[in-house]
This record gives sequence, structure tokens and C-alpha cells, in this order.
Amino acid sequence: MRKLPVAGTIEIAPSILSADFSRLADHVRQVENEVHILHIDVMDGHFVPNITIGPIVVKKLRPHFDLFFDTHLMISDAPKYAPEFIQAGSDGITFHLEAVDDPAAMIQQLRVLKVSVGVSVKPKTPVSALQDIIADVDMVLLMTVEPGFGGQEFIPEGPDRARELRTMMRDDQRLQVDGGINTAKAPLIVKAGADTLVAGNAVFSHPDPAQAVRDIQHAATDVK
Ligand code: DX5
Ligand code: ZN
Repeated sequence: MRKLPVAGTIEIAPSILSADFSRLADHVRQVENEVHILHIDVMDGHFVPNITIGPIVVKKLRPHFDLFFDTHLMISDAPKYAPEFIQAGSDGITFHLEAVDDPAAMIQQLRVLKVSVGVSVKPKTPVSALQDIIADVDMVLLMTVEPGFGGQEFIPEGPDRARELRTMMRDDQRLQVDGGINTAKAPLIVKAGADTLVAGNAVFSHPDPAQAVRDIQHAATDVK
């Protein structure tokens, strides 16, 4: 199982939600050499009002790529389905704090399965709600849009929420942001302490996805 890149680097994680699903592997291959992390958005039509993919797609993609498969579970029953995604080839599982009754037990379950562990909060959840478990995860995923769809506008509270989260985290933990990231927002959010930037629309709706990644990386790295 692959590990997250050691904290201290800025990583762009393209989200396949905005990729062309009719030629998914080809589209991902266009960014393969630019990144280490591939962001996979899983939605169940219940936790969020949209349905995307299941473990079968992860399993089919897995043999084609050596990227870290970062699996963002926007589903109500994460404890039930996480093992299936890990079995299919996910390297990291991020669950939503709002969706899980016992987050500490969820983390423990994922630790036993040897996967990297992330926890995510939606825009309206106070970041202080993570206090009791934040020390036990490898990554926090801060949503900067309401989860459910790609191509939405980055919320203005994003940088302040990232700054607050950073004060609660160790240097060896990654702070990922997801939603509305582009070359304009990347420097703002990196300055606020984020080091892992999910980008869907800005990468896969670009005529040259590899160039789009390089542009975001450049914008994000310039501020440091
Ligand atoms: C939204 C997903 C995101 C989405 C981001 O619910 O979690 O990962 O793909 O897409 P953009 O970058 O287009 O906002
Ligand atoms: Zn996501």
C-alpha cells in the first residue's frame, strides 16, 4: 500500500470527478507524471445529493497507475464500505466527520487495514469539532465548497478555517483542501497552511490538464 508523500511538500491532487469518464484512464494518464496523488470522489446520493463511483472503478484503475489513490468518501455508511475500497486498491481513506457516529472507532478500523487516514469537515462544521481525533489522522480534508459537485465557487471562509486548523495540527500531518481550487485560490490557501490541493474542474476541464497542474503548482509554490 502506498503512503502519502511526507508532509513538507505542496501536492496537487487532481479529482477524477471532473475527468471524462468515457476515457477515464486516458484522461488520468495526462496528469500521471505531474502528481503523486489521485483524488477519487465517492458519493452515495444520501450523504450528498449526487452519485458517483464504487470500488469497481478503483479496482479497474488500480493496475494502470502507481499514484496514491486518495479516496474521499462522501457517503453515509463509511465503516461498511471503506474495506471494499481498500480491497480494490485505495491507499488512503478520508471519511466525513458528519457521517460517522464514532470517528475514533472509524480511525481504528482504518489503522487495522493499514491505510492512510483522513477526516473531512463540510463548510458549516466548526473545525473545533475535530479536536478530539485530529491527532490520530494523517490528513485533514477541509471542504471549501459544499460536497457533492465539481466546479463550484471556493467559499471565502476557506483561508481562515485552514489557519485555525493548522494551529490544531502537527507538521507531519497534511492539510488538504477541496473545492474551487484554481491558480487564483491556490496561493491564498497555501499561505493559510494547506499543503495538499484537490483540483477537479481546474485540471480536467482544461484543454491541457498537465499544464493546468503545473500552473496550480507554480501558483501555490510561489508564496512559500
Ligand atoms: C466535491 C468534491 C471535490 C470536487 C472538486 O464534492 O469533493 O473533490 O471534485 O472539484 P472542483 O475542483 O471542480 O471544485
Ligand atoms: Zn473530494
